[in-house]
Amino acid sequence: MGASILTAQNLSKVVPSAEGELTILHELSLELNKGDSLAIVGSSGSGKSTLLGLLAGLDLPSSGEVILAGQALSTLDEDQRARIRAEQVGFVFQSFQLLDSLNALENVMLPLELDGRKDARERARHLLERVGLGQRLTHSPRQLSGGEQQRVAIARAFAAEPTCCLPMNPPATSTATPASASATCCSNSTKRTARPWCWSPTTSAWPTVADA
Ligand SMILES: Nc1ncnc2c1ncn2[C@@H]1O[C@H](COP(=O)(O)OP(=O)(O)OP(=O)(O)O)[C@@H](O)[C@H]1O
Ligand SMILES: [Mg+2]
Repeated sequence: MGASILTAQNLSKVVPSAEGELTILHELSLELNKGDSLAIVGSSGSGKSTLLGLLAGLDLPSSGEVILAGQALSTLDEDQRARIRAEQVGFVFQSFQLLDSLNALENVMLPLELDGRKDARERARHLLERVGLGQRLTHSPRQLSGGEQQRVAIARAFAAEPTCCLPMNPPATSTATPASASATCCSNSTKRTARPWCWSPTTSAWPTVADA
């Protein structure tokens, strides 16, 4: 295909447990091309976070392969996987991981400044406006609602123009109105910028939002 950004081939994850070997993932394959959105849906304990960890190269599969931006992750050492993650993947963490000492604008600017981008402030402002937070630029994370914090985290994930974006299990409350708006925005954003957007909800309500 050539356009594939992220491919999983026959991924299996088996871990030891007190009851013997536990198979969390069994020969799972998927392919994400430019501009694709994917909602990973499943009940609690079904293996969503395990899969996202493998796709991001945070963990290695028991068998199978993940190919991210043309690189087979199993052929890379930990430092090389960290580098490809930094260059290619935008993360939205479950607890958002915003820095309390920085305001919303500065949180989104941070990865851009680390990347040496001269347009950091301008781009961060634009992204925050895209997620409806143009009036909250100088608020610290503590002065933002949960949904607003999530939208800042989404804007930050897209800031450095990653090849793909992996929200690491946002809370079920993501289906509430403000977060729905941001998901729509990011979904539109991936269409415009041709970056895949892979969403792992804890409820089955997300596909509707992700497709919006
Ligand atoms: N290192 C491990 N050792 C043993 N069991 C594990 C390990 N990692 C995950 N599991 C088990 O594998 C299953 C899948 O875990 P995972 O965290 O991927 O689920 P999930 O779909 O993300 O669930 P949730 O929606 O609750 O976040 C769970 O039952 C978990 O207890
Ligand atoms: Mg999980």
